[in-house]
Amino acid sequence: MKKQEKIILTGDRPTGKLHIGHYVGSLRRRVELQNSGEYDKIFIFEADAQALTDNIENPEKVRQNVIEVALDYLACGIDPAKSTIFIQSQIPELCELSFYFMDLVTVSRLQRNPTVKTEIQMRNFETSIPVGFFTYPISQAADITAFRATTVPVGEDQEPMLEQAREIVRRFNYIYGETLVEPNILLPENAACLRLPGTDGKAKMSKSLGNCIYLSDSADEVEKKIKSMYTDPNHIKVTDPGQIEGNTVFTYLDAFSRPEHFERYLPDYPNLAELKAHYQRGGLGDMKVKKFLAAVLQEELEPIRTRRKEFEKDIPAVYEMLRKGCEVARATAADTLADVRKAMKINYFDDEELVAEQVKRFSAE
Ligand code: TRP
Repeated sequence: MKKQEKIILTGDRPTGKLHIGHYVGSLRRRVELQNSGEYDKIFIFEADAQALTDNIENPEKVRQNVIEVALDYLACGIDPAKSTIFIQSQIPELCELSFYFMDLVTVSRLQRNPTVKTEIQMRNFETSIPVGFFTYPISQAADITAFRATTVPVGEDQEPMLEQAREIVRRFNYIYGETLVEPNILLPENAACLRLPGTDGKAKMSKSLGNCIYLSDSADEVEKKIKSMYTDPNHIKVTDPGQIEGNTVFTYLDAFSRPEHFERYLPDYPNLAELKAHYQRGGLGDMKVKKFLAAVLQEELEPIRTRRKEFEKDIPAVYEMLRKGCEVARATAADTLADVRKAMKINYFDDEELVAEQVKRFSAE
């Protein structure tokens, strides 16, 4: 086995522009990891083939969003000089690896995957599940192992995928000898970042619910969305005591605000704990908290918005960046597949031993 490098791999399905939920849940962390200098290689990819597993009648949606997500990546500070950004469908080796992995997983094992179970319900797939969708955890194991990823930074909903990938690696290595690397999940640190609720207080930001703040939203759009955000429905008068739990404005502050924001925009309070305490006591109006949140969010989003606008001016350059990323990614995956074929002894044409063995067998007759 090759020397164990520290390799990050993670990705997103390009089914929509990225929003601040993606940002606090993963993008912000990826940029930190990228700039930490602690990793030998970083791969960030758009899982367009996986997106097709539940969008097969909507391929145009996926196609259009490949560039949107690439722009969001670049805008957030993912730097192609430090991270390889690529598109899943352009790496045929991933299909090949998935095909071999399929022999290592049972149908009942896939049926037990809680994330897939929930997704099947959400998509009304109960009566007829596309095979590709059903088996996407296997293809995801191929995504991870083809790049010998040691570290996969993802949300908690991806835990079953990582578990599946680890099982596949163990099974493969047991049968064919130490070949593949077992990946580790890297979960978000801050509890508020595990899953950011929608602006309407619903559990998840989702395009269809219209409760997202997108990274590409204008300052005006962000302002408007914050003004209409869900808070505590029983906090009617300013003097009423308010609830923090389930109060989306405070959840967002948990995810975004830092002590220096208070110095800058709300110097009457030393920190978030004091602001929360005042709200709970009563005497603090929603508008004041929302204004503070708007200031905090705009400060964070403004540079992202500006960078995105810059990249939007040269779209061919973005596709060229992706093309180069795919080239690098493909060479890496091809290298792993060569190891895999060798381990499986299906490398018939560069296996001199096999030829010699057959020569001997036939000349003995
Ligand atoms: N399933 C992931 C998501 O929906 C995307 C993804 C596909 C992925 N392959 C991956 C993430 C491999 C990490 C590693 O967000």
